[in-house]
Amino acid sequence: MEKSFMIKEIKRLKKEKNAVILAHYYQEGDIQDIADYTGDSLYLSQIAAKTDADIIVFSGVHFMAETAKILSPDKKVLLPVEGAGCPMADMVTEVRLQKYKEKNPDRIVVAYVNSTAKIKAMSDVCVTSSNAENIIKAYSDKKLLYVPDQNLGNYMNDKYDLDMEVWPGFCCVHNDLTIFDVADMRKAHPEAEFIVHPEAKLDVVKLADFIGSTKGLLEYVIKSDTKEFIVGTEDGILHTMKKACPDKEFYILSKDLRCYDMKMTHLSDIYYALKDEQFEITVPEEIRKKAFIALDRMLKLS
Ligand code: 13P
Ligand code: SF4
Repeated sequence: MEKSFMIKEIKRLKKEKNAVILAHYYQEGDIQDIADYTGDSLYLSQIAAKTDADIIVFSGVHFMAETAKILSPDKKVLLPVEGAGCPMADMVTEVRLQKYKEKNPDRIVVAYVNSTAKIKAMSDVCVTSSNAENIIKAYSDKKLLYVPDQNLGNYMNDKYDLDMEVWPGFCCVHNDLTIFDVADMRKAHPEAEFIVHPEAKLDVVKLADFIGSTKGLLEYVIKSDTKEFIVGTEDGILHTMKKACPDKEFYILSKDLRCYDMKMTHLSDIYYALKDEQFEITVPEEIRKKAFIALDRMLKLS
């Protein structure tokens, strides 16, 4: 099918079915362009919680669509590619978390939104990379466990005086960045500022001029007077950065900054999701209700 025809069909189906397309900044540019809303995990979950659409097509990975379903149980939530997951979300399992909780009943569990519904249901509060700092600060007088991203957890522990244990999970895309990547790129682009997502390791994060969620990074480059940036996050964000700041230069920190799960989705998957209403996300009600509490606490603190 020709691309222009497919785009026309997507628009027609969207209208006919009262559907809305949500796309994460890590999606391919053509998907971001056709989406009704593009954003980071927090923004998209806020949209999912309040949309009037009957169908939410969530162009991202499984935990994002699942979060949308937890927040909007009456909507039909579709994930265009059934197998698009987040390896980090699977690094904490219910069995291991249950064991941890039994041994440490006094610890509040803070779950990164990059986690499964079952893990959220076992947690006290959720965070995303853009609100983790404020929410963790709000709980700073408590004993905490942060799951599953050790890098964001280590960054918080380094910045604040916390009693917070961190789960040994990581994002396989950001975790591979090294201080040598930064040194090489700084040498190649001495005028550029280095900006990074907190899913990178602490030694890399500490070298940055600015640290933020994908939306935080985007807002920073828009506001900054600097003209060149070395970007330490998944390369999908460059599409939006270039569109927002055509007069600025963006250099990806490493050519390996591509999340293969995020990049599984193509325009044709969006088309088939809308046409055949595949692949629908479901969450058992008793899990959803518990997970909702942790997510709702997060949204109220955001
Ligand atoms: P944010 O959307 O919160 O920046 O997180 C990035 C991410 O890991 C999505 O997979
Ligand atoms: Fe998961 Fe990392 Fe991919 Fe985000 S970029 S979906 S955290 S593997």
